Amino acid sequence: MISNNYIDRFNTFDRILHWTVALSFFLLFLSGVGLFANAFFGFFEMFGGPQQAIMVHKWTGVVFFVGSIILFLSHAGDTCRFDADDIRWIAKLGGYLSRKHQDIPQSKFNAGQKLFGIFAIIATLVMGITGWIIWDPTAYSRELTQLSLMLHGLFFTLFMIAMVVHIYLATIANPGTIEGMLWGQVRKSWAKAHAIKWYQKMLKS
Ligand code: HEM
Repeated sequence: MISNNYIDRFNTFDRILHWTVALSFFLLFLSGVGLFANAFFGFFEMFGGPQQAIMVHKWTGVVFFVGSIILFLSHAGDTCRFDADDIRWIAKLGGYLSRKHQDIPQSKFNAGQKLFGIFAIIATLVMGITGWIIWDPTAYSRELTQLSLMLHGLFFTLFMIAMVVHIYLATIANPGTIEGMLWGQVRKSWAKAHAIKWYQKMLKS
């Protein structure tokens, strides 16, 4: 729906799904970071001890894994389609490193968001599969368990970096973006500035 100032961006399902995935991500961080390095051992206290934290981590992991896959599939049509403008956007890194205003028309998501969405599903699959292997450390061979532990830690680090960037760009760096994920609509002026090709498509539909 398009009203005087606003345009629909995410429906209720999109928003509940996104915030379920986001909430489970942070619960996974809080319950798992104590295993990452001794310095964070104190985080276990929040859950009543290591055993309880690990139990929360395992079952929240299942929620995150399923939720993140559905999230990816529900946006895949927009996330996985790259055109010439996306290539130009990537070549200029979205203009984030330049003071000059860049005017590269973008679809519903810009090329950076598309790359983030693809990274998020790859990281989810790696975390989920390796998490399954290390769920019971005696279930698989020592070598496979060791490799899985290493990949789980590596992708945790990469995921955290990507998430800090995602949250920064979706909030303070681009005012108005969060409105769509909170209330479902964005301002028309936001849509014209950030996603002009999507805006024009919405006007025609
Ligand atoms: C406090 C944490 C988070 C905030 C504030 C946040 C904010 C947002 C916002 C505002 C959007 C809409 C962007 C737009 O309209 O163009 C969005 C999209 C998205 N978010 Fe989040 N998010 C958070 C956590 C997460 C987590 C944990 C994940 C998954 C692992 C995630 C995955 C996505 C995906 C896949 C999209 C679709 C667009 C894209 O690929 O970038 N978000 N997020």
